[in-house]
Amino acid sequence: MKYAQIDNKLFIENRKRFTKNLKPNSVAVFNSNDIMPTNADGTMAFRQNNDLFYLSSIDQEESILILFPDAYNKDYKEILFVRETNERIAIWEGAKLTQKEATEVSGIKTVFWLSEFERIFNTVMAEAQTVYLNSNEHLRATIEVETRDARFVKKCKDKFPLHNYERSAPLLMELRAIKSDTEVALIKQACNITKKGFLRALKFVKPGVMEYEIEAELIHEFVRNRSRGFAYGPIIASGLNSCVLHYVDNNKECKSGDILLMDVAAEYANYASDLTRCLPVNGKFTERQKQVYNAVLRVMKEATNMLRPGIILTEYNKEVGKITEKELIGLGLLTEKDIRDQNPNMPAYKKYFMHGTSHFLGLDVHDVGDFNKPVQAGMVFTCEPGIYIPAEKIGIRLENDILVTKGSPIDLMADIPLEVDEIEALMAGSVKVLV
Ligand code: GLY
Ligand code: MN
Ligand code: MN
Repeated sequence: MKYAQIDNKLFIENRKRFTKNLKPNSVAVFNSNDIMPTNADGTMAFRQNNDLFYLSSIDQEESILILFPDAYNKDYKEILFVRETNERIAIWEGAKLTQKEATEVSGIKTVFWLSEFERIFNTVMAEAQTVYLNSNEHLRATIEVETRDARFVKKCKDKFPLHNYERSAPLLMELRAIKSDTEVALIKQACNITKKGFLRALKFVKPGVMEYEIEAELIHEFVRNRSRGFAYGPIIASGLNSCVLHYVDNNKECKSGDILLMDVAAEYANYASDLTRCLPVNGKFTERQKQVYNAVLRVMKEATNMLRPGIILTEYNKEVGKITEKELIGLGLLTEKDIRDQNPNMPAYKKYFMHGTSHFLGLDVHDVGDFNKPVQAGMVFTCEPGIYIPAEKIGIRLENDILVTKGSPIDLMADIPLEVDEIEALMAGSVKVLV
């Protein structure tokens, strides 16, 4: 792991909050993610299961967590299973967690090697009545590959068909949506690294550079600041590509007169940040680009201010749509008649602004959380309005990460240059920003 060890109080507290919600005499089981294969003996980089990480801090494959708060044997209230390490593994793969280290990082006293799992789990199940199992219930998840959690659900139900079964995912969705101070600090750290990458890229952009060269600048800055890398596939989109919402090829030349849309951000300690900025490739926005940019910026400022406790995100999205509608009329892209004649189920603004304004942010970039329940203090959202005009090769999206508080929203990216004048001055090298 590149990140500094996180104080285990975070994970101890998370387990407390989770187990409070369990029915009496329940056991909950969490599995790590698999290491995904590529071809031959190749594998993808390991990425831990976020629920297991949230409850344990264990960032290693083949790990299992059992939580059994009512266990008769108090050593079995929290049990961690990790892959047995040995000298051969240490030489070929690097050292894995020892049992003592697993205790230190997680705050869990009882740690066994994975080979002990069946034996211990049988004794736990003999005592437990209800079993909470985990699954990825994210609204937008499309899952073709069976996860370790999914395989475990099948195995467990097959072997213990008479227990009561419950889902952990809804409980975790509620808990993870509200960030503790430590989590906000980790997201802020990811934002700080993103800022460094952005400022580096800003100095590098000029006519003739390739989108992938900008990607290389960013990853360099992210990794040297203890990030594993991009929090999601980077979108570095010049000219017409700026109107392609999920453009990821990043393989075109940046041309003078074009807009460059960069939706790029770093992760830190598995926590995501999520930033979008738009630059003029030649350092100076055209009048029209500036008009569209400032229209989106006004929407962003209004929308950010709306992110307060009590709002419902689905309603908020509609409100932001209405604000954008006014800007689109101002830009001459829609008329009052278009609005009068519009189909209420497919408002006219959607031609130029076709995505939502905000999503939860945390361990996942599109983090877990309920869009239909009132927003609460401690939630972190992106705010990312946009206007896309393919006919003019102008796509503008601006995105910052916002912490909801009991008072005014706190912009975790407030120190990343955003105003047109700031961007132009920085690209001209006439001012410097401290990092
Ligand atoms: N970068 C992904 C998003 O903005 O939602
Ligand atoms: Mn983004
Ligand atoms: Mn986003």
